[in-house]
Amino acid sequence: MCGIVGAIAQRPVAAILLEGLRRLEYRGYDSAGIAVLDQVGKLNRLRTLGKVARLRDEVAAAPLSGTLGIAHTRWATHGEPAVRNAHPHICRDRCVLVHNGIIENHEELRREQKAAGHHFTSETDTEVVVHAVYDELTAGYPLIEAVRRATARMTGAFALGVIDTQDPEHLVAARQGSPLVIGVGFGEHFIASDVFALLPVTHRFIFLEEGDIAELTRDTVRIWSRDGELVKRPVKESAVAADSAERGEYRHFMLKEIFEQPRAIADTLEGRLAGNRVLPEGFGNTAPDLFAQVKAVTIVACGTSYHAGLVARFWLESLAGLPCTVEVASEYRYRRHVVPESALFVTISQSGETADTLAALRIAKESGYATTLAICNVPESSLVRESDLVLLTHAGPEIGVASTKAFTTQLIALLLLTTALGRYHGLSEAAEARMVALMRSVPSKMEQVLALDDRIATLAEQFVDKQHTLFLGRGEQYPIAMEGALKLKEISYIHAEAYPAGELKHGPLALIDENMPVVAVAPNNALLEKLKSNLEEVRARGGQLFVFADFAVPLTEESGVTVIRLPETDDLIDPLIFTIPMQLLAYHVAVLKGTDVDQPRNLAKSVTVE
Ligand code: AGP
Repeated sequence: MCGIVGAIAQRPVAAILLEGLRRLEYRGYDSAGIAVLDQVGKLNRLRTLGKVARLRDEVAAAPLSGTLGIAHTRWATHGEPAVRNAHPHICRDRCVLVHNGIIENHEELRREQKAAGHHFTSETDTEVVVHAVYDELTAGYPLIEAVRRATARMTGAFALGVIDTQDPEHLVAARQGSPLVIGVGFGEHFIASDVFALLPVTHRFIFLEEGDIAELTRDTVRIWSRDGELVKRPVKESAVAADSAERGEYRHFMLKEIFEQPRAIADTLEGRLAGNRVLPEGFGNTAPDLFAQVKAVTIVACGTSYHAGLVARFWLESLAGLPCTVEVASEYRYRRHVVPESALFVTISQSGETADTLAALRIAKESGYATTLAICNVPESSLVRESDLVLLTHAGPEIGVASTKAFTTQLIALLLLTTALGRYHGLSEAAEARMVALMRSVPSKMEQVLALDDRIATLAEQFVDKQHTLFLGRGEQYPIAMEGALKLKEISYIHAEAYPAGELKHGPLALIDENMPVVAVAPNNALLEKLKSNLEEVRARGGQLFVFADFAVPLTEESGVTVIRLPETDDLIDPLIFTIPMQLLAYHVAVLKGTDVDQPRNLAKSVTVE
């Protein structure tokens, strides 16, 4: 999604803004732009289609000097990716702004503004905001008041950075529904969509709350809440290292993040286990009391995080004996639901800013759930701040758009949750001890699977020229097949579908021929024999089978059947282990196809709009 950076400083800001944009690239974008106010009050703007590097080249060719500026990466929603639609947007050389979010009533405002004589240069929803602020400025209001008055007329979601070219001493920021942080420096202040953008210049941040409007000068920050009250928001020190968002020796962030999984799992378990037990307090001080009363669980999430929820449903029902429903947030938020008695509402999200998941949480809080829990990777995110209980996954920054380590850390967090809840619902001490031991074994098992990287890279060659792929799994491996299919489609652009293997003969079998590779996730579990019959159905129709199986699975390679052996594990942790070859397969196919692995076309890392 769009990324915002802004700066008001005593030093030139163009390089800071460009580096900030580079660090926001992972969010996904199609165009970029920058505007800097120079020493004589002239606003200089450059916008380009495509990568930030291109914008950087343009700035190098026509340097932008000045100590006040804003910059933006745009992910198109209203209006195609084009220079005219890229931000910053300007109204009559006076007002300039960048926006992340969607202005829902933009059509109505556009009609009014056109009638009032405003000339539109883009198809964006954003342009109505810049005209509205301009109108308030020319009515005599100072910038902060002009932004407040203009945004009061906007419905939808926005994070804004705004400059009045006649007021070089102020930068104004506003947040409603889209994330925005203020970076606190010495004699300089910054704004950005997330902390990574600003780590080279500061480690001190103020996280704006919903409805906040902030006025930044070089030396001060003043913030007004949604109710118009002047408020103090705490300055927090970020523990994220400046180089944590760097690729290092890896060719892509995605590969780096796949290989970081053993460490990320160990970090997520750290401090959550004591001897043979899970510490329920890890979810919050009140968690033990609340967990004891929980009688049902509802999980809501999107994309990969939704797949983690689907796996958790098996665990929660079979091990903790709790009824569990799992739903994608974009569906959940628009239907009436029956809230089960004493139910725990769980959201899962890497970013904690996914608009649908956040909306679902807000609805749940109004609907009578006993309590809400966020499983999330970003400590200062909206989801974390708005939930009663929180379990942070300690995956570290995930930059590749394709979620990898975020997924497996979500799974381990959900195993911790299952165990913590299970204790109050009949899970014996011995069973808990066994689960804890298995959780501890995950990092080393993962290392063994990562050693298959070369083998999977070779296998990938057989997928490169294919148009379609089918992924099969049963039980808790069905969501892993779904995740494998999602990874392949999002980064290699090969159409991939996942099916519970038992559904094959109810339709998808008609698709099978020699051009349709079928990937099966086949650990040695209770459903293996059933799965093997399903695989026979594929073989009998000339399908090309690629089976990921552990050493205990009695399967032999033959024509049309390739078997990739994984270390033997236990049913409980199989989903974490079998995910890794799916990630590696998608990665290597994408590399062979030459796609943009870390920033696949049309996708954004953090989906902060509906
Ligand atoms: C997965 O690879 C995705 N890029 C996507 O499905 C993602 O999981 C989804 O958008 C949810 O994001 P979140 O976890 O940040 O809420």
